[in-house]
Amino acid sequence: MNDKIAYARHGNVAVLRLENPPVNALSHAVRGGLMAGMDRAEADTGVRAVLLVGAGRAFIAGADIKEFGKTPLEPHLPDVCNRIEASPLLVVASMHGVSLGGGLEVALSAHYRIAQPDARLGLPEVHLGLIPGAGGTQRLPRVAGVEAALDMITTGRHVMAPEALAMGVIDQIEAGDPEAIGLAYAKALLYEEAARRPVSEMPAPAPVDWDARYAAVLRKGRGQISPAQAVRAVQASVEMPFDAGLKAERAMFRELMETDQRQGMIHAFFAERAVSNLPGLEGIAPRALTGVGVIGGGTMGAGIATAALLSGLRVCLIERDTAVAEAARGRISANLAGALKRGKISQEQQDAMLDHALVLATDYAALKDADLVIEAVFEEMATKKTVFKQLDKVCKPGAVLATNTSYLDVNEIAAGTSRAGDVIGLHFFSPAHVMKLLEVVVTDQTTPDVVATGFALGKRLGKVAVRAGVCDGFIGNRILNTYRSAADHMVLDGASPFQIDAALADFGFAMGPFAMADLAGLDIAWAMRKRRAPHLDSRARVGKYADRLCEAGHFGQKTGAGFYTYEQGQRVGTPNPDVMSLIEAERAARGITPRDFTDAEITRRYMAAMANEAARVVGEGIARRPLDVDMVLLFGYGFPRFWGGPLKWADLLGLPALLADVERFAQEDVFFWEPAPLLQQLVSEGRNFDDLNKAG
Ligand code: COA
Repeated sequence: MNDKIAYARHGNVAVLRLENPPVNALSHAVRGGLMAGMDRAEADTGVRAVLLVGAGRAFIAGADIKEFGKTPLEPHLPDVCNRIEASPLLVVASMHGVSLGGGLEVALSAHYRIAQPDARLGLPEVHLGLIPGAGGTQRLPRVAGVEAALDMITTGRHVMAPEALAMGVIDQIEAGDPEAIGLAYAKALLYEEAARRPVSEMPAPAPVDWDARYAAVLRKGRGQISPAQAVRAVQASVEMPFDAGLKAERAMFRELMETDQRQGMIHAFFAERAVSNLPGLEGIAPRALTGVGVIGGGTMGAGIATAALLSGLRVCLIERDTAVAEAARGRISANLAGALKRGKISQEQQDAMLDHALVLATDYAALKDADLVIEAVFEEMATKKTVFKQLDKVCKPGAVLATNTSYLDVNEIAAGTSRAGDVIGLHFFSPAHVMKLLEVVVTDQTTPDVVATGFALGKRLGKVAVRAGVCDGFIGNRILNTYRSAADHMVLDGASPFQIDAALADFGFAMGPFAMADLAGLDIAWAMRKRRAPHLDSRARVGKYADRLCEAGHFGQKTGAGFYTYEQGQRVGTPNPDVMSLIEAERAARGITPRDFTDAEITRRYMAAMANEAARVVGEGIARRPLDVDMVLLFGYGFPRFWGGPLKWADLLGLPALLADVERFAQEDVFFWEPAPLLQQLVSEGRNFDDLNKAG
């Protein structure tokens, strides 16, 4: 026994209570304590049953993720589970809070399971690039059947207690103190002389078409291997005797543990939590937030207002006249209807948001009580400055004044007010009530409590908030601009947009850059190119073929044609046959002889451009840490989570190899491929980006 497992005797029931805050992760000490606890209970004369229960907020949140990647120490979790299940005593698990991963595997090793009504269960290992490795893939199909097990294990989704009861994963639901309820249940089972019920002795369930399932899951995961492997592990539960199935599962688990994908996913898990822990913000209280203002009710403003309403904030939205304001209300109402349809809010909540929490106005004076105002008007400096002048006049002292600009100089916007310290950028991504990313753009003068307020708002809205410094495009759009250029150069030199999109979808991106441009609207990038043109260095290569599409009125999905053509109402297009001739004409005019690109080369160039610019962004302090960039790309730009982010990808590739790529590409275009100083420095010091993350 040890300090992680408390042992108590209640009549003929021994209670093993896990005490490993915050979430009872199954660390080495916990596993050892569970083994010792079982030994003690079995040796304790008169004990007939064991109750497993967790102290604090959860039963068990799973294996201790911090131990992954280190040498595993005995006792291993599968042995602990087998030890529990094989006990001659009757073993009961009482589950509250979460029982995830190894936590559910421990519960499945018990002979009976009781849970609180709000308990959540799941096998989320696929989100860490793994599969359950302590019998989860063998025991769950035996209690819940193959379909339910495949669903839970390949998606990693959490299941609430009532659903788990219906699936047969738990035996009973009861509200109250988990230990008291578990004890009563154990005693009732003893009284009824209920038999031990090891899941391993239950019959194997019926098979399905495994190969078809494997292929479907692999496709859905865009190349992520762990969910597909999970199908094979469940297959083993059907086709092999229990012990052999366990061995097969463990072998697959070990193999996955060695993969880059596992490292990428675990990096993402911790980075997602670390990203809002900014060293400079410790102990700084955010300003109070109850009511926010939004200026502009277009797609972005309406999305921001929707997100704020959904989080319980009061919203005052300003538009230039009543008709436009009503159109904004229509957009917000449609967004909320979507939330209602998905079961996120009730009809009453929707009504309350629209009828009470939301106010539309045409006069800035309505913002006098707002704690924070977010401007989402036309992307033009003069317009923004006019808005901020008015906000400066009407807003109460201490109100936070935020701009949703995606690239304009927030320092300049702030300088036009008498309260620059209160000004901040809050860069949402469209649709703002759906996309998880929020860039919190900090100017030279933003005060720390205003930054803390930006992060507090992000948390309240359920966003992943990332601190960014001021530059053209901040973190995300600046890096996007660079890797888009790399794609553009490859098109000029001989690759087709369709090959590039396909290669990057294979790499794991939600979509390639040209399909993405069609979705965002080609007019947006066109306007950006026009804005940048006068300031462009004469050595910069910029393709003109996309301008030709725009000149012809093809702006992508919204006009039915762009790089792809779209059937009415369809979101997936087919290659636009006119595109290649536009590109070929431009190559001819520039005197370029096109060459072939392999998919591997496409990916390598695209990623090298992305990682090199990301290194520059970190080196310049626009992003504080490499993990900040990684989270921006993951949550705002469809970067595949299983690579962890562009700088985690770079670490996995090895920084010397990345630098060698950049230097090799620079032989063709020394201007575009200038190596980032930080990349050069890390290579010369033999360090990597994760070393910078650890340094904080
Ligand atoms: N191992 C180690 N640490 C863990 C952990 C685990 N399995 N699960 C959570 N933690 C840590 C978090 O890193 C966080 O640490 P911090 O406070 O130092 O940042 C703390 O526990 C609380 O977690 P957090 O995610 O901030 O709280 P939450 O209430 O939002 O969510 C969980 C709790 C358990 C739902 C969530 O943390 C989770 O999904 N954990 C992973 C579960 C999992 O994948 N288990 C399978 C492992 S095989």
